[in-house]
Amino acid sequence: MTDRPEIESLLAEQRTFPPVEDAVHVRGMDAYRAMHREALADPGTFWGRVARELVWTRPFTRVVGRPPPAVTWFEDGETNLCWNALDRHVAAGRGDRTAIVWEGEPGEVVAWSYRRLLEETCRFASVLRSLGVRRGDRVAIYLPMVPEAAAAMLACARIGAVHTVIFGGFSAPAVRGRVEDAEACVVVTADGGWRRGKEVALKPAVDEAVEGLACVRHVLVVRRTGTPVAWTPGRDRWWHEERAHASADVAAESLPAEHPLFILYTSGTTGRPKGILHTTGGYMVGVHATARWVFDLRDGDVHWCTADVGWVTGHSYVVYGPLLAGVTTLMYEGAPTHPEPDRFWSIVARHRVRVFYTAPTAIRAFMRLGDAWPARHDLSSLRLLGSVGEPINPEAWAWYHRTIGRDRCPIVDTWWQTETGMILVSPLPGATPTRPGSATLPLPGIDVAVVDAKGRDVPAGHGGLLVVRKPWPAMMRTLWRDDARHREVYWDRFSTPGAPVYLTGDGAVVDPADGYLRILGRVDDVLNVSGHRLSTMEVESAIVAHPAVAEAACVARPDATTGEAVCAFVTLKQGRLPDEATRGSIRAAVEHAIGRFARPADVRFTDALPKTRSGKIMRRLLRDVAAGREVVGDTSTLEDYSVLARLREEDE
Ligand code: WTA
Repeated sequence: MTDRPEIESLLAEQRTFPPVEDAVHVRGMDAYRAMHREALADPGTFWGRVARELVWTRPFTRVVGRPPPAVTWFEDGETNLCWNALDRHVAAGRGDRTAIVWEGEPGEVVAWSYRRLLEETCRFASVLRSLGVRRGDRVAIYLPMVPEAAAAMLACARIGAVHTVIFGGFSAPAVRGRVEDAEACVVVTADGGWRRGKEVALKPAVDEAVEGLACVRHVLVVRRTGTPVAWTPGRDRWWHEERAHASADVAAESLPAEHPLFILYTSGTTGRPKGILHTTGGYMVGVHATARWVFDLRDGDVHWCTADVGWVTGHSYVVYGPLLAGVTTLMYEGAPTHPEPDRFWSIVARHRVRVFYTAPTAIRAFMRLGDAWPARHDLSSLRLLGSVGEPINPEAWAWYHRTIGRDRCPIVDTWWQTETGMILVSPLPGATPTRPGSATLPLPGIDVAVVDAKGRDVPAGHGGLLVVRKPWPAMMRTLWRDDARHREVYWDRFSTPGAPVYLTGDGAVVDPADGYLRILGRVDDVLNVSGHRLSTMEVESAIVAHPAVAEAACVARPDATTGEAVCAFVTLKQGRLPDEATRGSIRAAVEHAIGRFARPADVRFTDALPKTRSGKIMRRLLRDVAAGREVVGDTSTLEDYSVLARLREEDE
């Protein structure tokens, strides 16, 4: 280690690591280049071939359909994602293979074979039907990380219901907003789950969330912690009771490729979350292909993606991707450091994990805890490491490579989004030499570019906006019941007739030497706190609802562990005191409105927010102040930005 981190990072970035020689899916750069070329030149043939690796109940005749924004793929085909993920393996004699290994935080371990997961999924499907769920109806899933979460999702896919999974860390008002927007008729939840040795209650949040919502007819409750819960007779049903007389054999429906599969709410630049809509065929094909290319999945693999099923990473690479590939997916319920900081490494060792996929924020936290914790465990089962959710700094990359991968395992730094459904930019372990901090190259068929504010290509070496110029199968179809916002946010800015351009919202720079992409992070007001996507506007609206608050502006500031942290600048109403109690209750208001993970790291009081003459809040100035690049006096009391604002006004 040098004492000049920026120099170490520069040095680290120059190092490259060769691809492995024993990959099974894509071997060598020439193979990757040939796939990429073909997929760009003839997407119909390329993706048609990939799609035919799966089973279609009605073969498609067209691969690429309507162009974006109203894109379609495989549009006259019919299939069933659940059938492809489960029945296909059972039918091929692989029913005894382990589909899910689950470990609860208190330590229980449960393994479900493909056959068992299929049976549980059918039981869920049959119970959902008995509760009145029909094709196209929405089902909200608000569960801890338990195998029932996967079964519930797959059950929806089986009968053509549309799941909307809500991360268990969201608070009751956040759950309500999502259930209401999706008009879910059933909410699947649990009494609670375990996190850091404590019970996180879920059922009470659902009770509060659905109170008075006419759309919700039933709440199906999985018993996990055994804690007593309030009960609304008629509406509420215990999963274990319904399950007891549910059929374990429910046919998978033949569904049109463009039948909606799921809605997943994610933060945009406004206070209102966006319901990203994915459909059946394209999502299935995209996730199937990328799971195999990127993780190089093979028979017998234990694949552990540590994401919660409440995020897109959990959808694509905990549930659907690994199951389509027929490998074992590992689910862990609890906190990474409970009861000791080596819980993750103990899980890797005990379950012989081959592929480990996590977020940079976790890697940085582990790095800080020291090398002794992973050193206690046999990590020799690991073959491949992955990173997702935010840019990974070269130091963390190098530590991950050395300390977890023991210098043997390639790292795939995968860039993608809820909207993209599948990984779009990533090294392929058997083809792409990797470099710390670089997501390297687009996957086959992904036409990425870096452009300036007018949509013109910027020269390599210069930062710009990351865009995608050709459709890909797993792309979002629209925003739930908001086509206009979908077009406006993602397509209108640079698209011209016949040449759609998808705006990612991220900045990137292309390396002049080899075309490798370095993702710079969001260029809008979306931030990533510990890999949780959040909008500064959502946090602001939670804060201004606090009775003491007159005005608030939230910005992201860098944080050594969480990547970014929320810094809230707050002006109080006349007569309200900028004291610790107020600060605490503002944080609590955010926790109440969104969830604990969204609480601002800093709450800074000011008697006025710095504004331009035209009244716009000077966010850039606030970002600098939050990051400590602009030094202000004592930050523990009221801050005064008027001088800074006057100095800055010219260039805001
Ligand atoms: C960021 C998570 C840098 C990016 C799959 C993107 C990344 C947002 C990376 C999407 C990466 C994701 N390097 N940044 N490898 N992966 N991001 O929708 O800003 O939760 O736009 O999807 O995370 O977050 P989301």
